[in-house]
Amino acid sequence: MTDTKQLTHYIDGQWVAGPAASDSLNPSDTRDIVAKVPGGDKKTVDSAVAAAKAAFPAWANASPEVRSDLLDKVGSLIMARADELGRLLSREEGKTLPEGKGEVMRAARIFKFFAGEALRRHGVTVESTRPGVAVETYREPLGVFGLITPWNFPIAIPAWKSAPAMAFGNTVVMKPASLTPATAHALTEIIHEAGVPKGVFLGGGSMGGALVEHPDVAGVSFTGGQSTGASVAKGAFSHNARVQLEMGGKNPLVVLDDCDLDRAVQCALDGAFFATGQRCTASSRIIVTQNIHDKFIDALAARVKALKVGDALAADTQMGPLASEAQLETTLSYIGVATQQGGRKVVGGDALKLAAPGYYVAPALIADTNQDMRINCEEVFGPVASTVRVKDYDEALAVANAGEFGLSAGIMTTSLKYARHFVRNVRAGMVMTNLPTAGVDYHVPFGGTRKSSFGPREQGFAAVEFYTQVKTSYTFA
Ligand code: UN1
Repeated sequence: MTDTKQLTHYIDGQWVAGPAASDSLNPSDTRDIVAKVPGGDKKTVDSAVAAAKAAFPAWANASPEVRSDLLDKVGSLIMARADELGRLLSREEGKTLPEGKGEVMRAARIFKFFAGEALRRHGVTVESTRPGVAVETYREPLGVFGLITPWNFPIAIPAWKSAPAMAFGNTVVMKPASLTPATAHALTEIIHEAGVPKGVFLGGGSMGGALVEHPDVAGVSFTGGQSTGASVAKGAFSHNARVQLEMGGKNPLVVLDDCDLDRAVQCALDGAFFATGQRCTASSRIIVTQNIHDKFIDALAARVKALKVGDALAADTQMGPLASEAQLETTLSYIGVATQQGGRKVVGGDALKLAAPGYYVAPALIADTNQDMRINCEEVFGPVASTVRVKDYDEALAVANAGEFGLSAGIMTTSLKYARHFVRNVRAGMVMTNLPTAGVDYHVPFGGTRKSSFGPREQGFAAVEFYTQVKTSYTFA
């Protein structure tokens, strides 16, 4: 079929081959092998971390202008190739072409934002309590950061972890998701082409565990599932590395009687089904008050039913396939559990056989569920939205606050009173009023509460917290 790329590791400025470990398949047509991915082992990790450690002092002491220029150039190179990279991303991950291109542009803008952050003020000056003494704080880089990135945002998440790490003077060893290595490899090529000094950025496959546990890794940033997150934390704590975990959500979207119905339907559709529901911020629990409930379900069901599922690269596709067979199986099994526990399948939920073999499923809306059912407690990571009928705002808030997650939450209402109350009282790291729970800006903090996240916030002006440490200086002169 189309071209298959043979990937390598990128260590100390060199492209290093490894034993073939796995194939990256196109989820829209599994006959299409996107890339052959090299295996990595402890030796690969050791040499990557050693190179990153050796590169650290010069990079940390380089003028911030050098770091800023590099990141700006990476952003420009990504932008110049947005069409081609967007196609690669959609082919490899399965989100639609507009979503793929959109993500590529987001990655480019993230690099440009952090090109600016490298030059901004991050330290503070304070009057000492002692006359004649000056107190100031510096933000210093830590050393080598290990980055473990997921497949659902195969270029944006590598960007939002690696750009701040490098902006503030750290070096990076990145382990991209094994489902989407070609997209990560393309980013690595761009960082190389932009002229990154040897050892400052390194990437490669299958080396997560050894990377986290490596004693010369100063910090680990991870996005992925809860159980892997727990072992990443253990591995990092075993040698006092700092750790940042982002582990998903079961994000509530509250729909109140007084909402703008069309907007509520659009936000639910976008939040639950765009990117095939494979976003940790997906609006997967829709909580609807009783007077608008039936009208809302009918209107949403009609829109869900009309979604055109197909090849990610086809122009008329509105929802691509799931990213892998495992994702397809999990999604179907959760739909089964939801109906067994009493949920009513309003529309969708079956695997679809299209002309090409791929991981297709009809987007599912499951009504009449309650908060205790598994479908409302566990993250599906697929195109499945369940709805819960509630009496009023107070009950909606209580249901929204149930469960273990706390990443994003949304409310659809025209009432300022309920909107403000929700913003202040919902237990989530991000709260959206008259917007879907998914779809965030890149220049502001990202992260959740409770089981969703651990450690300092990612992204935007918050990223400096995780990727630097504070030094407090006292001077009498
Ligand atoms: C978004 O909703 O725009 O893995 C971003 C994820 C999140 C990113 C979501 N870390 O889905």
